[in-house]
Amino acid sequence: MERPSIRSYQLRGARMTKAQRQAIEDHAEQFLIENPTSFHPHQLFPAMGEVVVEIGSGMGEATAEIANTFPEKGFLAIEVHRPGIGSLILRAIALELGNLKMINDDCHLILNLIEDDSVDTFHIFFPDPWPKTKHKKRRLVNDDLSRVLSTKLRIGGELRIATDWQDYAVQIRRVLDSNSQFRGGIVERPSWRPLTKFESQGIDKRHLVTDFLYTKI
Ligand SMILES: C[S@@+](CC[C@H](N)C(=O)[O-])C[C@H]1O[C@@H](n2cnc3c(N)ncnc32)[C@H](O)[C@@H]1O
Repeated sequence: MERPSIRSYQLRGARMTKAQRQAIEDHAEQFLIENPTSFHPHQLFPAMGEVVVEIGSGMGEATAEIANTFPEKGFLAIEVHRPGIGSLILRAIALELGNLKMINDDCHLILNLIEDDSVDTFHIFFPDPWPKTKHKKRRLVNDDLSRVLSTKLRIGGELRIATDWQDYAVQIRRVLDSNSQFRGGIVERPSWRPLTKFESQGIDKRHLVTDFLYTKI
């Protein structure tokens, strides 16, 4: 997969707080995979039985909490926005996480580097909704991404998605239901998925949150 000409993220510049910049400078070696080449996720976490790959970890609030809840799993966060990486490193240090790594790039490029049939779980929580009709083509979860995710998951591997945009939920369901490698649909909110600031703002605006779970068959 090439870097798509239509971006699924907003170009916000990379203005970082001093603490975020310092965190990257001081701890990149421990947490950040720079210039990655082809890899199997288990190579990154040789001691872990399972590896979760998250796409779009944002400021890392949920990512860090989930990694803290499951110390026996490895977590690889892919996020294009560099300040978000700095923020996640700060959280990882505060929680003394030893099971988290990050890549700062567009997931479309990084997914190319992951071996087929190798990912245990993908998380995509609250992908940018791109609500305007003229922007809907920028939505991350589309047929192309669905194909790549099902190729990278191992048989029995899981894809979890949450969105607070009903219209995007309809699109997600249509896209994943039409991929013959996936079985699944809407599920209850998993108890381990923390309520982030971002999600509570949506709920305050009366957005309904939909959680999906699909398994590769
Ligand atoms: C709305 S935020 C949600 C962040 C986080 N998952 C949460 O629940 O708070 C979506 C994130 O996905 C990231 N993103 C969008 N497209 C991406 C891509 N192609 N590759 C990597 N990250 C992407 C954005 O930069 C943004 O941080």
